[in-house]
Amino acid sequence: MCGIVAYVGHQDAYPILIEGLKRLEYRGYDSAGVALLNANDELNVYKAKGKVSDLEAYAATRDTSGHIGIAHTRWATHGEPNQTNAHPHLSNSGTMALIHNGIIENYMSLRKELEKRGFTFKSSTDTEVLINLIEDVKQKVDLFEAVRIALNHVVGAYAIAILEKGHPDEIIAARKGSPMVVGIGDNEFFIASDATPIVGRTQKVVYVEDEQVVRIKLGEDLFIKTIQDVEAIPYVQELEMNLDSIEKAGFDHFMMKEIYEQPRIVRDTMRGRLHPDTNTVSLGGIVNYEKQLLYADNIIFVACGTSWHASLVGSYLIEFLAKIPVKVEYASEFRYRHPVVTPHDVVIAVSQSGETADTLAAIQLAKESGAVVLGICNVIGSSISRATDAGIYTHAGPEIGVASTKAFTSQVTVMAMLALRLAELKGTLKDEERREYIQELDRIPEKIQWTLDHSGLVKEIAAKYKDVRNMLYLGRLQNYPVALEGALKLKEISYIHAEGYPAAEMKHGPIALIDKDMPVVFIATNHHTYEKVISNIQEVKSREGKIIAVVSEQDVVARKMADYVIEIPESMSIYSPLLATIPLQILAYHIAVMRGCNVDQPRNLAKSVTVE
Ligand code: AGP
Repeated sequence: MCGIVAYVGHQDAYPILIEGLKRLEYRGYDSAGVALLNANDELNVYKAKGKVSDLEAYAATRDTSGHIGIAHTRWATHGEPNQTNAHPHLSNSGTMALIHNGIIENYMSLRKELEKRGFTFKSSTDTEVLINLIEDVKQKVDLFEAVRIALNHVVGAYAIAILEKGHPDEIIAARKGSPMVVGIGDNEFFIASDATPIVGRTQKVVYVEDEQVVRIKLGEDLFIKTIQDVEAIPYVQELEMNLDSIEKAGFDHFMMKEIYEQPRIVRDTMRGRLHPDTNTVSLGGIVNYEKQLLYADNIIFVACGTSWHASLVGSYLIEFLAKIPVKVEYASEFRYRHPVVTPHDVVIAVSQSGETADTLAAIQLAKESGAVVLGICNVIGSSISRATDAGIYTHAGPEIGVASTKAFTSQVTVMAMLALRLAELKGTLKDEERREYIQELDRIPEKIQWTLDHSGLVKEIAAKYKDVRNMLYLGRLQNYPVALEGALKLKEISYIHAEGYPAAEMKHGPIALIDKDMPVVFIATNHHTYEKVISNIQEVKSREGKIIAVVSEQDVVARKMADYVIEIPESMSIYSPLLATIPLQILAYHIAVMRGCNVDQPRNLAKSVTVE
């Protein structure tokens, strides 16, 4: 996903912009660029295909002076990744430069109209159309008004920043559908796609709302209007992020750092919400919607990827503990399949980034159906957190690695607390039963730590299987989503094909895949279908399949049948996703590293998919 960074203030802009782009690299990109206005009012634009380091090499011998600039990492949507299509884009007059994250859906019709008026285009991007549309409008009004008026003709999503020759102290920005944060410093301003480039520079931020245009001018307060010409008061917030949350803290990759953060993260997710002393759970963010949840015809999770896997775990937890019907929908399917949703349903959008386009669209559809829409998000101030009626933040901190790890465990923790709260309200659990579940959940952070401390064998397994072409992950009940998640981790960072399956489904086809070259990961932790899983292991073994078994500490049977055994602590079976997932994250990580893959920024992937 594209990233934008902009700066105007008393410091040199270039180093701030480059550092900001590097902090946004985790979003995934294929080219980068920067535009600077120097003291002689010269507009210098440098762009390079590839990485930010390639841009730095290109600009190294050029004039990068100036106290105002905009910069961009591009994840190609319209036009291949190359220097011409990279941002920033200049208007025909060469007096304005623009960067853009999003998609202008009606750019072709706008381009045709502009060509009739004599505009020419160097690139095949929608962005270059937008800057020239603004130039076309600007003949009669100033840049702020021109942006506001032009955006009324635009269909699509955008987070844009524009600078103009002759205005060395002013940047105009706007957003719709793509995120944008403005940092307010001491006689300086920062603009970025999310807060990571701003961390350590200022604590005061404004999360720009959809369809807002912002004038950022040195010596003045932020000035905001909607594209409908209604002034808006900036809502200044305190940035909750800090520097060490976006540094690697001695780990080789963000992903491993975030895997090892999970004991603390799960504790943070529970803080102030799980109360073993009073045998209760309190979820303040949704307290006004507990009745709708309790009496919902259906709770419907809408999500993508790992968040969808967490939602599947959530469905098992809520149905088992609170006896409320739950559906789990891929947001991308939900938004187009004409689902039956009524005002008696409660839709819960689950998203780490809070910017996933399909999930945002699913929210819109659910709202049109009259359902209450809640959110479970990680990024504060994100689009999904603002589009929902209420929600619960996971408090997992910034997740930089593209492969979700701590987001998954924090989401599952929220869902476990939600299930326990609903069970309490509905009376589906006796007090004593609830106490056991709450007390065991309270012990999970330490059990995750134990799992991390005892994961040494996983690296040996990774070395053994790093060159396989396929892997199967099998689990039953709440370990089925664990199988899906383990397979996704391996696929997305090591590029080995892997499939997660309900273990019992093997005999309905996939067992044909089993031979001596097919490693099979079984999540064989204790639960009431353990014996069935043992039979499934036997079926694979008898066909020479290689078995990697994730087992509970006191397991006796599965461990004797497996080629490799990974132990996790004993716990209640419904909490096994919080424990069994950990070694599978580590397995995927080591295999990817051994294969020389880019663990934090896997090929073709973006941290948040803000386009369809
Ligand atoms: C998971 O490792 C992937 N990064 C991806 O599947 C991700 O979970 C999905 O794109 C949803 O993202 P979100 O949680 O930010 O909405």
